[in-house]
Amino acid sequence: MGIYLDNAATSYPKPDAVIQKMMQYMKEIGATAGRGAYKTAIEADRLVFNTRKMVCKLFNGNDPSKVIFTYNITEALNMVINGFLKEGAHVITSSLEHNSVWRPLKTLERDRNIEISKVPCTKEGITKASDIEKLIKPNTKLIVFTYASNVIGTIQPIKEIGIIAKKHNILFLVDSAQTAGSYPIDVVKDNIDILAFTGHKSLLGPTGTGGFLINCDSDANIMPSKSGGTGGDSSYPYQPDYLPNKYEAGTLNVAGIIGLGEALNFICSTGIENIRKKEQELVKYALQRLDEIDGIHIYGPKDYNKIVGVIAFNLENIPAEDIAFELDRKYNIMVRVGIHCAPTAHELIGTLERGAVRIGIGYFNSKDDIDKLVSALKNIEEKI
Ligand code: ALA
Repeated sequence: MGIYLDNAATSYPKPDAVIQKMMQYMKEIGATAGRGAYKTAIEADRLVFNTRKMVCKLFNGNDPSKVIFTYNITEALNMVINGFLKEGAHVITSSLEHNSVWRPLKTLERDRNIEISKVPCTKEGITKASDIEKLIKPNTKLIVFTYASNVIGTIQPIKEIGIIAKKHNILFLVDSAQTAGSYPIDVVKDNIDILAFTGHKSLLGPTGTGGFLINCDSDANIMPSKSGGTGGDSSYPYQPDYLPNKYEAGTLNVAGIIGLGEALNFICSTGIENIRKKEQELVKYALQRLDEIDGIHIYGPKDYNKIVGVIAFNLENIPAEDIAFELDRKYNIMVRVGIHCAPTAHELIGTLERGAVRIGIGYFNSKDDIDKLVSALKNIEEKI
């Protein structure tokens, strides 16, 4: 397979138990959830509900029915942003957002006349929570922040931002794409109203899974963007008003959600603190070793306490694409290059034109993977 260092895009490998559980469901159960009353349908229902409980367990949610499943985090973020923001609302967001937040906001700026304020941060991606309070206006309805940048990995002061949001009664939505499963998240302690999550990155589940966890009463203000079958109340002509059905129309990704439940089980039994510790060790090692390479420029803070397993860099005078191409073709090392669907973050670090090479370190990587990457980069640097 080679050396996989693109865990920020999607994690690989997945725990064996995830694959076994999905196979078992497909071979032995097969029925959809929330529809039939026969034994296998009830079992599918139970397994999906179990995943809702596991999501609550990992993030300290208090009600499994407030876990809404979507097909990825982009869909989850779109549902909340589009369903919540009305004409003329003001939104505060970070300078590091992925297009899954940035594009829906820009679209609503054009189509619903919303106002967007980007919170300034240092070139290293450090945001001061107190800068947010200065931006609040009478029409500020939403603060939406990534928990950690998908380009430079910087962890944002979510807990402090949440305190400010609460004080001003503003909905606080967090994009946990790069932190869920690799960094401890507690929606209560972190003062998060809605946590959007993806299943296939550090949560170690399959693609096609994600969702949002509601930790407030504001769901009444989020209009559902889809309507359709929910398995009950079928004669009622509108989308039911109760959770989770309010936001889940149509057949769920049952196999994926069951796989995600098993992945969450793996994370909870391994311990999120242990996962973070192992990844921190690898990040610390990677930062040290990458620094040995002549002509390397690493973006973001070179402090393993301030970032998750995401490191972006360039080598002087070598196009980022050429580095990634060479790493793949010659050394079988997989990384992601370009602007990573995050133009605002690249604008911040000055690489919007040039792009950067990004490594995404995951729980199953080893120091040996980093050594091989560094040795390949040294060869590439010397050759050119
Ligand atoms: N959002 C994913 C990434 O950063 C796909 O690579």
